[in-house]
Amino acid sequence: MDGTAMDARTRSVTVALEQREGRQGREGGAQHTLRFDDLSVTFQSGEGTARVVDRATLEVRQGELIGIVGETGCGKSVLMRALLDLLPRPAARVAGRIEFDGTDLLRLTPRERRRLTLRYFNMVFQDPVGSLNPFFTIGNQMREVLTQAGRRNGQRLSRARIQQRAVELLRTVRLDDPERVLRSYSFQLSGGMNQRVSIALALSVDPWLIVADEPTTALDVTVQAEILSLFDALVREQGRSVLLITHSLGVVRQVADRVAVMYAGVVVEEASTPDLFASPLHPYTVGLLACVPRLTGQAVAKGIPGTLPDYTAPPTACRFHPRCPHAMPICRETRPPAIAVGDGGHRVACWLYGDERARAEATV
Ligand SMILES: Nc1ncnc2c1ncn2[C@@H]1O[C@H](COP(=O)(O)OP(=O)(O)OP(=O)(O)O)[C@@H](O)[C@H]1O
Ligand code: SF4
Ligand SMILES: [Mg+2]
Repeated sequence: MDGTAMDARTRSVTVALEQREGRQGREGGAQHTLRFDDLSVTFQSGEGTARVVDRATLEVRQGELIGIVGETGCGKSVLMRALLDLLPRPAARVAGRIEFDGTDLLRLTPRERRRLTLRYFNMVFQDPVGSLNPFFTIGNQMREVLTQAGRRNGQRLSRARIQQRAVELLRTVRLDDPERVLRSYSFQLSGGMNQRVSIALALSVDPWLIVADEPTTALDVTVQAEILSLFDALVREQGRSVLLITHSLGVVRQVADRVAVMYAGVVVEEASTPDLFASPLHPYTVGLLACVPRLTGQAVAKGIPGTLPDYTAPPTACRFHPRCPHAMPICRETRPPAIAVGDGGHRVACWLYGDERARAEATV
């Protein structure tokens, strides 16, 4: 394909999506859907092959805040990097599907993928200071991002318009005195202010989805609550979607509509937040919840015995079986499918909830 033909095709993928968005408007009901379908990520190294995300399936709908929780090393960030095409090549191999409104991102050309990613998705990182450039003012960095975003949309924005937009964005993230912030360098601002600036930068491209990877871990508790309420507002008031990655069940309980629990690269349970906390099903989720210190009564936190497996030689079938107090022979032999429990979208990958028919089918 020559450059012109490729450009035309690249435009056609995003233009089709944008036209649909234009017809419906962001607040006008269901528009976009993102779906990870049997997504796996494998790293090749001298030590072998490590499948660190194993057939993950998860759907993100319009105006939803989804929390992804799990202990360190369980594959949360790798899953998100697969979505944003930020994994190292050729070491990382991605298989399965990442569908955005039915378009499989993994089947697009690099140029199509980049354009679609820049248009619809953006990311906020854990360390706000590290993600900002200390040699340029916040204003310089915001103007640069806004200019680039305008160019991609075929617009040449005036300096005054860009300045106005930067001020609006800083107000959206509830920063007082935006003009002063624009004149500042990141090291002149507090951690919470820098994280708000990072969110404003992420919003500069007007993304449909924001992926926030541990965005509050580096902040103190009060500032944490303010940043979480900001994400909540982006979803409730602006109809954006947010994927919030965190170690903290407290954080997801505060803001998430739905929660996906990951263990050793597998999405082991997914449920609405109230359902997950009221009736956790997977033994790993039950263990995680038991680890949360209670504020009342005897604050004895029970851990989950054992550690995450070596990804180059993971346990067979259910990856949790060496640590599971309920492990059965089938758990070592056949991988449990995601089983729907009730009709509220609660799904669990555990044989404790599989009926006989499911077991029989899975062992064929
Ligand atoms: N570039 C890479 N090459 C090889 N292995 C990697 C690479 N990036 C991540 N991994 C491995 O993938 C696994 C999952 O890592 P990931 O960063 O997704 O964990 P996480 O759930 O985000 O953990 P944390 O909560 O500590 O951020 C880990 O075992 C990690 O060592
Ligand atoms: S499938 Fe078996 S080993 Fe895995 S979590 Fe369920 S009971 Fe435990
Ligand atoms: Mg991570």
